[in-house]
Amino acid sequence: MADKNNELSVPCHVGIIMDGNGRWAKKRGLPRKLGHREGAKTFRTITRECKKIGVKYVTYYAFSTENWSRPKDEVDAIMDLFEKYLDEVKDFADENIRLRFIGDRSRLNESLVKKMDEVEKESAGFDGMDCFLAINYGGRDEICHAVKSIAEMVKNGEIDSEQIDEKLIEKNLYTAEAPPVDLIIRPSGEQRLSNFLIWQSAYAEYYFTDILWPDFKPKDLREAVKAYGERNRRFGGV
Ligand code: IPE
Ligand code: IPE
Ligand code: MG
Repeated sequence: MADKNNELSVPCHVGIIMDGNGRWAKKRGLPRKLGHREGAKTFRTITRECKKIGVKYVTYYAFSTENWSRPKDEVDAIMDLFEKYLDEVKDFADENIRLRFIGDRSRLNESLVKKMDEVEKESAGFDGMDCFLAINYGGRDEICHAVKSIAEMVKNGEIDSEQIDEKLIEKNLYTAEAPPVDLIIRPSGEQRLSNFLIWQSAYAEYYFTDILWPDFKPKDLREAVKAYGERNRRFGGV
């Protein structure tokens, strides 16, 4: 059984796959982009709730390296939302929440990247909770990126290939400054990772629910955390 001590039964690092925005909109006869807008509101509520219950790190999957395959108008609408939201999330400052981004920024609009940099800079001193947003993120892409950096180090003679170990790989992931993921939450009924934090969630617990992300409420988060607290994590031991 998980330790009943609250400190241990609350996951330190939660990963959330914000899925189901499109279906939420479709059910209401609305354009998909309104589903994304509603999902962005849930992001704010749930981030606050994570902090309240004592989560230390939360990472959200907002846009995958595969999501570029969607119709251009949907991709554009999502990118516009990010920009708009980055202006608004500045109010996380009141909550002392540090916001950072993971993923490949090279394909994003210059103006968006500028805002991302600003938000990261402005919130750098906040230590209430760490929040990461994965934008143009793919787990496989992240590992390729890490392998390239390590290959450069070997090429430049900074390290010997014998020195490549799990720690070094971890240090070269976008999430270098976060601990491994304890709990992955995926709403919307899908039961897959879709290329999210594939290295970091090697020993995560998974929680799936049919609720669509825009309908996901603080009580649903608490339910997921409660289920997590009842799991028996063995990490290969007995
Ligand atoms: C998740 O919701 C948001 C992104 C992937 C950007 P979806 O847009 O995937 O919603 P569904 O899965 O089509 O309902
Ligand atoms: C995963 O959702 C990506 C994000 C939530 C950002 P998708 O809707 O893109 O995943 P699939 O296509 O159902 O696997
Ligand atoms: Mg989806």
